[in-house]
Amino acid sequence: MVLLPSLALALLCLLRAGAEVPVQPGFSAEKFAGTWHVIATASNCSVFLKMKDGMKSSITTVTFKPEGDLAMEILWPLEDGCQKLELLFEHSGQAGHYVAAQEKRDLRVVETDYSCYAIVHQLQQRGHAPSAALQLLVRGQDGSPQLLQKFEDLIPTVGLTKDMMAVLPKSDRCTKTIS
Ligand SMILES: *[C@@H]1O[C@H](CO)[C@@H](O)[C@H](O)[C@H]1NC(C)=O
Repeated sequence: MVLLPSLALALLCLLRAGAEVPVQPGFSAEKFAGTWHVIATASNCSVFLKMKDGMKSSITTVTFKPEGDLAMEILWPLEDGCQKLELLFEHSGQAGHYVAAQEKRDLRVVETDYSCYAIVHQLQQRGHAPSAALQLLVRGQDGSPQLLQKFEDLIPTVGLTKDMMAVLPKSDRCTKTIS
C-alpha cells in the first residue's frame, strides 16, 4: 500500500529525466537579443537555495556573434555593489539551444514572445553536483501575476519544485552603471 505511490513517483522521475527540455519553436536570435531583467529563478543548486531569499533581480544583456554564438553579460546586484559576469555559449546546431563545453553548461530558451518575456533553462554539469535552473526574464522590470503563474507551472515540468523558486526584487545597484 505504501510502496505503490513511491513507485509511481520513481517512474515519473525516470520519465522526466528522459524528456528533453523544449526550445521555443522557430527561435529568432535577432529578436531575442538585448536586455532582460531576471525577475524569478528556480534552481536546485545548493548555493542558490542558501542565498535565494536575499537575491535581487539581475540584468542580462544578450548579444549574438556572427557565427551564432551567444554572449551574455550579467549585472548582478550584491549587498555592496554590482558584480559583472560574462558568459559565452556556443551554438549547438539547434536554434535556441546553446552550450558552453568547457564549463559543461547547457542553455535553452524554452519559451519567449521576444517583446515581453522569456523562460530560459540552464543545466550546469561541472563539479560533483550537477544543477538545473529555470529563469523568468522580462524586458521591463516587472512581470504580471499571469506571467509568474505561467513560470510556476513550468517548474515541475523540468524536474524542479516550487519551493526552489525565488521571486527576485528589483534593485538599483546595477542600473546606475547602464547608460
Ligand atoms: C538538479 O536537477 C537536475 C535535472 O533534473 C539533475 O540532473 C541534478 O542532479 C539536480 N541536482 C541537484 C543538486 O539536486
